[in-house]
Amino acid sequence: MIQAFIFDLDGVLVDTAKYHFRAWHRLAKSIDIHFTEEENEQLKGVSRKESLEKIMQWGGVSLPEKEKEKLMALKNAWYLEFVNEMDASETLPGVRLFLEECRAMQLKIALGSASKNAVQILQRTELSSFFDVVIDGTKTSKSKPHPQVFLMGAEALDVQPAKSVVFEDSIAGIEAAQRGGFKSVGIGKAQNLGKADLILESLQRKKASEIINHLNF
Ligand code: BG6
Ligand code: MG
Repeated sequence: MIQAFIFDLDGVLVDTAKYHFRAWHRLAKSIDIHFTEEENEQLKGVSRKESLEKIMQWGGVSLPEKEKEKLMALKNAWYLEFVNEMDASETLPGVRLFLEECRAMQLKIALGSASKNAVQILQRTELSSFFDVVIDGTKTSKSKPHPQVFLMGAEALDVQPAKSVVFEDSIAGIEAAQRGGFKSVGIGKAQNLGKADLILESLQRKKASEIINHLNF
């Protein structure tokens, strides 16, 4: 029997992946590094610090810790300029209805996000009340593809990974779900999410009950 759904935030529930990209792109440009939207797929699901380190690696740049801290603060300030303008209209298509259906089915629901801005984003988009548990980047020490964030979510909900489904838009997140023993639904393009148990363009595409059937619970 299915027990729980665990959702990533950025790129699954809310349209913030584009804001992360814009802020990182601007930051990278400021230190003369240029990266493509395709390379950006590797930044999805990854913590702020590891994202910066990847970008520096692409540009063949190495910087002292203090400088990295400054760059991360700058990127986050630019990112928050977008976040502070967000409202409920920036939930991705089908999300609110989907979460309402999950609630009606009495599924347990957790958030499993790398972001340290997750609580603020849930509030701005009026999604907070759907979640029994929120595990975010302020609570974890290991970045996806490590399964820590989802395992902590399952533990807090008191459910088994094998009886839970993770919804993710990132390559790192799908790998984290699989390493943790969860079933996984990839949200986005098949070319990026090939390893997921099911791939959907958006949460508008299927009902929760159809997903549960498809995954053979
Ligand atoms: C993930 C995003 O959800 O959170 C990443 O996919 C981001 O792009 C990471 O780097 C950390 O987010 P934040 O908000 O703490 O910088
Ligand atoms: Mg994501």
